[in-house]
Amino acid sequence: MSAPNKSYDPVEVEALKPEEIDRARDEALAAIAAAGDLEALREVKVAHAGDRSPLALANREIGALPPQAKADAGKRVGQARGAVNKALKARQEELERERDERVLVEEAVDVTLPYDRVPSGARHPMTTLSERIEDIFVAMGYEVAEGPEAEAEWFNFDALNLDPDHPARSMQDTFFVRGQEDQGAAGSGSGDDSGVVLRTHTSPVQIRSLLARELPVYVICPGRVYRTDELDATHTPVFTQVELLAIDEGLTMADLKGTLDHMVGALFGEGLGTRLRPSYFPFTEPSAEMDMVCFVCRGKSVGDPANPCRTCGSEGWIELGGCGMVNPRVLTACGVDPERYSGFAFGFGIERMLMFRHNVEDMRDMVEGDARFTRPFGMEI
Ligand code: PHE
Repeated sequence: MSAPNKSYDPVEVEALKPEEIDRARDEALAAIAAAGDLEALREVKVAHAGDRSPLALANREIGALPPQAKADAGKRVGQARGAVNKALKARQEELERERDERVLVEEAVDVTLPYDRVPSGARHPMTTLSERIEDIFVAMGYEVAEGPEAEAEWFNFDALNLDPDHPARSMQDTFFVRGQEDQGAAGSGSGDDSGVVLRTHTSPVQIRSLLARELPVYVICPGRVYRTDELDATHTPVFTQVELLAIDEGLTMADLKGTLDHMVGALFGEGLGTRLRPSYFPFTEPSAEMDMVCFVCRGKSVGDPANPCRTCGSEGWIELGGCGMVNPRVLTACGVDPERYSGFAFGFGIERMLMFRHNVEDMRDMVEGDARFTRPFGMEI
């Protein structure tokens, strides 16, 4: 039926037949209406309004038509494409609105829900108290010094004027580290001849500091120490000491006393005095036990049975630790001239201080790592 196509009738061109154009438009509109989400609509757009869509291809055929036919076909195709684009835009807006509404519901954050169900605990009060003590001395120009916890006997005892046969050597219940040759041969060998112990106090850091540093020396040495005690309410085999050492020209016991007073004032409140009671340590001469005025009753509970003080046991004083002027023999062992230099040292246990400072009744609470113990200290600043 195709006549010679002299005038190039659009009805003869398959893609430009009115019913073909209507069909392409209707298919496009149906697909647009059926697109359930933006992704599907994107595909519909490519298929029905893209460069290779039926209407775009039909549009391309128009150029070859004679002028009159061109206008007709152009109008038809243009209207079809216009309708498709309009429908696309409307559906696009509709789907975007739906998506936005859904996101608002699905991704809503309930700010009233608990944000964290895992208890996070807090810094351990031993850490905060140690750092507080360090800060007091760092502010005065002291440096923090550290040493090994498995320590040579020479540092832990000999250099501190505790010879092997010194009676005070057995005062400290020592963990001895077994030597190589004893390993695996349990029962044979004494096991105490490796020359290494778990340090029983932080005083060996005095020696290490004197050997390693230029004079004058002002150091504070916090650290873990070990003694063969059973863990109970008042003992632990691993505990923490702070040692202080000052070596300079012309230091006297008055400097020791003033330093102690300052520390106690900074930790427990201004104006709390300290006292020294004669004592004995091989590494200090003279030596003393140091006490501070009870920061709770300030001595008022003494002789007043009606108002007992739990913190000091109505003694009026709280025992802090040991101190003294560094023994000249220790200075000599470290190559320091005792004729020119003198100094003082003191040491105390931080667990004990934490106990009386915060009314901790059982030492085990401090080592068991239960967050219920640490949390109330977490607000400390
Ligand atoms: N090292 C001693 C102890 O653990 C304490 C101390 C330190 C005493 C410094 C005097 C000087 O018992």
